[in-house]
Amino acid sequence: MKIKSVCILGAGNLGSRVALQSALSGYQVAVYDCSSQALDHSPRLMKKIVRQLAKSSGLEDVAGDNAIASITFTGSPQLAIKDADLVNESVTEDAEIKKSVWGQFGKIAPEKTIFTTNTSYLLPSLFAEISDRPGKFCALHFHDVFYSKVVDIMPHSGTDQEIIPLLMGFGKSLEQVPVLVKKEHQGYIFNNMLMAFIKAAGKLLTGEIGSVEDIDKSWMVNFHVPMGPFGILDSVGLDTAWHITRRQPDISSQRFAALLKTYIDAGKLGEKSGEGFYKYPDPSYRHFGVQ
Ligand SMILES: NC(=O)c1ccc[n+]([C@@H]2O[C@H](COP(=O)([O-])OP(=O)(O)OC[C@H]3O[C@@H](n4cnc5c(N)ncnc54)[C@H](O)[C@@H]3O)[C@@H](O)[C@H]2O)c1
Repeated sequence: MKIKSVCILGAGNLGSRVALQSALSGYQVAVYDCSSQALDHSPRLMKKIVRQLAKSSGLEDVAGDNAIASITFTGSPQLAIKDADLVNESVTEDAEIKKSVWGQFGKIAPEKTIFTTNTSYLLPSLFAEISDRPGKFCALHFHDVFYSKVVDIMPHSGTDQEIIPLLMGFGKSLEQVPVLVKKEHQGYIFNNMLMAFIKAAGKLLTGEIGSVEDIDKSWMVNFHVPMGPFGILDSVGLDTAWHITRRQPDISSQRFAALLKTYIDAGKLGEKSGEGFYKYPDPSYRHFGVQ
């Protein structure tokens, strides 16, 4: 089987990125979301990314604009799925929402379609049965697609082994570096390490040991890296981070989740809303360093 046509479920932060890279890599792409606001916003976010790529990687604006123009953005599930060889689901990180989406698309997808989820912390086996095609169900988890290019491929125990090389090839064709997670494991490989790091940073903040800036500086300056834990959280989206943190049972994660909720209630979702722990487009962490 050759993958030619890709359907992205969820036109948010990650869905838009996977869709854009798929179109840039020459796939026929349809993006579905139940929110018309998200469908309006998605091509605008893609344009912003194309402008950044033009500066950083020499992508020609016209190639980026043509890729965006080739994408079908739709609120019709039937239209989005009708030719799909592969679905990558990037809807809200909430098990019930994802279950209802997989139940819905399991009924209407063509038989050939491979189902993949981009969930950050949930397990593919949670959705495999409800999708009605457990053998063709696998996690295909991107990071930010353009800067962090690892893609996790994580089958559940019922995934047909023959789709793994297909997903490896698809990941490579999107200029990602595929990594096989040999058995189901919450948070894959990188997110497990990242979560421990974010947890420590959240505990330092809620315990009033250091400020957002000083915690980020400590990591960035010593390691010569462009972002610390709170800059990373802003780029992930504080709403997505909250969905993940609130499920951790320990008290310090619960305290940090409560703090994240105050940001969300104030409309501060991170980079995507213009403010989170930092203000965008020029967050102060970009100017940390030896003065
Ligand atoms: N943000 C990240 O850095 C990141 C990285 C890797 C994976 N992910 C995963 O990608 C997924 C999406 O995260 P995000 O940050 O893009 O979230 P987001 O909030 O930016 O986007 C989620 C989108 O899902 C849509 N949606 C919600 N319910 C829906 C439904 N029933 N039908 C169709 N669309 C629906 C929303 O309208 C929204 O546009 C999550 O599972 C997340 O864990 C996120």
